[in-house]
Amino acid sequence: MSGGIMRPRVVCRHGSPTCRHGSPVVTGRPRPVASRLVAAEHYFTSTPTGPGRRRTVLVTLAGREVKVHTSGGVFSPAHVDTGTQVLLREAPPPPEDGTFLDLGCGWGPIALSLALIRPETTVYAVDVNERARDLTRDNAAALELPGVVVASPDEVADHVRFDLLWSNPPIRVGKPALHAMLEHWLPRLAPSGAAYLVVQKNLGADSLQRWCSDELGMRCDRYAVAKGFRLLRVARDG
Ligand SMILES: C[S@@+](CC[C@H](N)C(=O)[O-])C[C@H]1O[C@@H](n2cnc3c(N)ncnc32)[C@H](O)[C@@H]1O
Repeated sequence: MSGGIMRPRVVCRHGSPTCRHGSPVVTGRPRPVASRLVAAEHYFTSTPTGPGRRRTVLVTLAGREVKVHTSGGVFSPAHVDTGTQVLLREAPPPPEDGTFLDLGCGWGPIALSLALIRPETTVYAVDVNERARDLTRDNAAALELPGVVVASPDEVADHVRFDLLWSNPPIRVGKPALHAMLEHWLPRLAPSGAAYLVVQKNLGADSLQRWCSDELGMRCDRYAVAKGFRLLRVARDG
């Protein structure tokens, strides 16, 4: 007999457990309470407690088919997220050399792509989620990409400056946390550096663009638009 109290599944009336349209309705087959608690854990939790069983996924990064490890408790474990694909396809080629940052690396699709394209560079892969960091570290090692430096935000020395920042930022952490994160990292662009941020139009891409200009005083342009996402380019050069 499977243990645990069974309670009905809660979703919103639009069918999505994450929808913000209104109060939830109760529907569907009951699921064990434990499984609901796991489902509620966010991908940006620093120490995920849900099942961490690894899986191997075949993905295309930088034009190469590669096997990577992903797991539960980490963003987009089944495939390369659509927004991330937009960034990887639409952003201009990275500079020939320099120091790059993948802000919020998850299991590493952006950092790994940068390192596959520019194996001689240093690519910082930063995430608050320790499971994400472990996956990115192991994926970089398996792909023989020693330039990938995996770190928690606190572990990156203050003096490091970035020639390029690519990010699919964690919009769902909420505006205060998102803004605090960007206020910390965007001013660390080198004078001629640039950041490319992919944000879903429906999740506040336009207001984030305004915020970068108005509050950070940085130049923020809409560099590309695809599949409901905006790719924002942020730079110091006003
Ligand atoms: C939308 S996911 C993108 C993950 C990965 N780059 C990808 O494209 O699949 C955003 C990531 O940001 C991480 N994150 C959340 N808050 C953060 C913070 N303050 N600093 C660094 N990373 C953060 C989350 O843990 C998550 O892995």
